[in-house]
Amino acid sequence: MNKKLKLAVQKKGRLSEKSIGLLRNCGLEIENFQERLIVSASNFNLEVLFLRDDDIPEYVQENVAHIGIVGENVVLEKNLDVEIVKKLGFGRCTLSLAIPEKNKVTNIQDIQNKTIATSYPNIVRNYLNENGVEAKVIELNGSVEIAPSLGVADYICDLVSTGNTLKQNKLKKSFNILNSQAVLIKSKKLDNYDELKILYRKLLDRIESSLKAQKSKYIMMNVPKDSLKEIIKIIPSLKSPTILPLADENLLAVHAVIFEDKFWEINEELKQAGASGILSIPIENIIL
Ligand code: PRP
Ligand code: ZN
Repeated sequence: MNKKLKLAVQKKGRLSEKSIGLLRNCGLEIENFQERLIVSASNFNLEVLFLRDDDIPEYVQENVAHIGIVGENVVLEKNLDVEIVKKLGFGRCTLSLAIPEKNKVTNIQDIQNKTIATSYPNIVRNYLNENGVEAKVIELNGSVEIAPSLGVADYICDLVSTGNTLKQNKLKKSFNILNSQAVLIKSKKLDNYDELKILYRKLLDRIESSLKAQKSKYIMMNVPKDSLKEIIKIIPSLKSPTILPLADENLLAVHAVIFEDKFWEINEELKQAGASGILSIPIENIIL
């Protein structure tokens, strides 16, 4: 029987849908996972384990799951022996100090001798130590945001993404302790298993090409023949742009892949250089 690569993802939470979305973008067929804890991909030797996010680093450390997708915040809090392979660019959030709306805290010194409730006691204690501030840290595993209204703590330290949870609980963000996003982690023991290592490399290649594609766009435009040299200089294409003749002999069509973070700047420059009819379309995958 073929060995299967085991990948752990969050069962229910901010990262669940997007983690499965990333795998599906990599061409993996994964059935609806709603009620099941283990699901096999039908076209890849992969088993997806749906776990509580806080448990994922430990499962990966023990090589029960060979790899995992989890928030960097959880990996740093657990501080276990796993390798962070890659930041995945989704599930971005901050671990922030949040305080009741009516309060005012401008810097870390203002929390001296206060009580802070958090699910991230290790990260928070380290942060306090680094800043030479003494405060009491209370560890809570859920519903941290109600601690101030119950009088359990003065402030909280929790993940903030949209900020809705804070608003609903009449809290506001004061300052950030950590920026986080989803990461791919890997068991250090995986390298001892040749068959699994090959599957892992294959999956990682697919993940990388899918991430690259998400950050890129395919653009197409018409350019006057005279402007071609200038236009080519503006396009930071993957390799060389494609140039095609058009019915109008004075014009050429230019196609190229560009990175999204420069998309608007490049478009403006292209327009100024004489390009017209600029179209852009998303890319599903890039294999270099
Ligand atoms: C975090 C955090 C808040 C929520 C904040 O929970 O504990 O409840 O997200 O998001 P918002 O700013 O968009 O309202 P998470 O989904 O990571 O789950 P967990 O902490 O229960 O594992
Ligand atoms: Zn959690």
